[in-house]
Amino acid sequence: MDIRQQTADLRKKALGELSAIELLAGLESWRVRYLGKKSQLTEILRGLASLSIEERKEVGAISNTLKVELEAAFKAKEEALREQEMTSAASKDTIDTSLPGRPFPQGHLHPVSQAMNEIAGIFTGMGFQVLEGPEVEWDYYNFDMLNMPKEHPARAATDTFWIDTPPNERGWRMLLRTHTSPMQVRTMEKTRPPIRIVVPGIVHRYEATDATHLSMFNQIEGLAVDEGIGMADLKGTLHEFARRFFGLDRRVRFRCDFFPYVEPGAEMAVECAVCRGEGCRLCGGSGWIEVLGSGMVHPSVLEGVGIDSRKYSGFAFGMGIERVPLLRYGIEDIRLFYGSDLRFLRQF
Ligand code: DAH
Repeated sequence: MDIRQQTADLRKKALGELSAIELLAGLESWRVRYLGKKSQLTEILRGLASLSIEERKEVGAISNTLKVELEAAFKAKEEALREQEMTSAASKDTIDTSLPGRPFPQGHLHPVSQAMNEIAGIFTGMGFQVLEGPEVEWDYYNFDMLNMPKEHPARAATDTFWIDTPPNERGWRMLLRTHTSPMQVRTMEKTRPPIRIVVPGIVHRYEATDATHLSMFNQIEGLAVDEGIGMADLKGTLHEFARRFFGLDRRVRFRCDFFPYVEPGAEMAVECAVCRGEGCRLCGGSGWIEVLGSGMVHPSVLEGVGIDSRKYSGFAFGMGIERVPLLRYGIEDIRLFYGSDLRFLRQF
């Protein structure tokens, strides 16, 4: 075939295929095919040596021109494709500044802490001061000074975690406090009336854990001591607390109860949120839910810390905290609070 015709066909084919290429990745095989060592064009150039001088001049000129042209076309195409791919990548990465930001995962207070803060807030609103005390306590404060001397049977009412250390020089033994009431004594030892305090904190009892019992839970203790404090102050304060916390329309009920450190002692119950007093599963059919123990501070507790019980009187109360969100949200297993399951905790 005529070399002119041959190169013209080759040129047409090569440029046609080149223009059809759409991706950078497709370029290399084209280069190998038309400009590579085994390409038709390289063959022609290699064959020049065997031609006569005249032919060599002509064929050499034609094939070299084609080579230069194809190389230039390749470069141009390569640049065009590169630019095209860059712009499309850039447009994919553009930042839409009108989009809302991505939310950061943010923690929040544990439902028990929320309840504790809310309850403490109600009492501070009524003039009580918030104090905290030690979780590792002496039996002296936890029992003795609360009118439960060594041989007193009331000690057996709480199962205690004793700490395995010898008693101190006064014969006091160490334990994990079974209630927040020892802070009543610690406070009255150091402070003269008028006293109005609430003490939130963790307490421990050596007992099996189930749907309604934990061996570690929270309480809030309250104490008010002053001249002329009576049972009406106790009832008024606690009723007001119940109205603020549980709602204005929830009825409360006081009944006699016994605690060695108060006389008289009373328990307060609120109307069941679910059945409103009718009786249901949550309240065990009674229509009422007990929320706290309370009473007038026993004269011998006051005398124990050197407060004159003829001049001063006071009331005290102690309330379990975990029960509150339990009742409020109708949670059926108290252990969920401390299971660290975020699916549960995120709901509050
Ligand atoms: N300490 C009691 C308990 O853990 C609760 C209690 C009852 C506290 C009567 C008081 C009180 O201050 O007066 O069950």
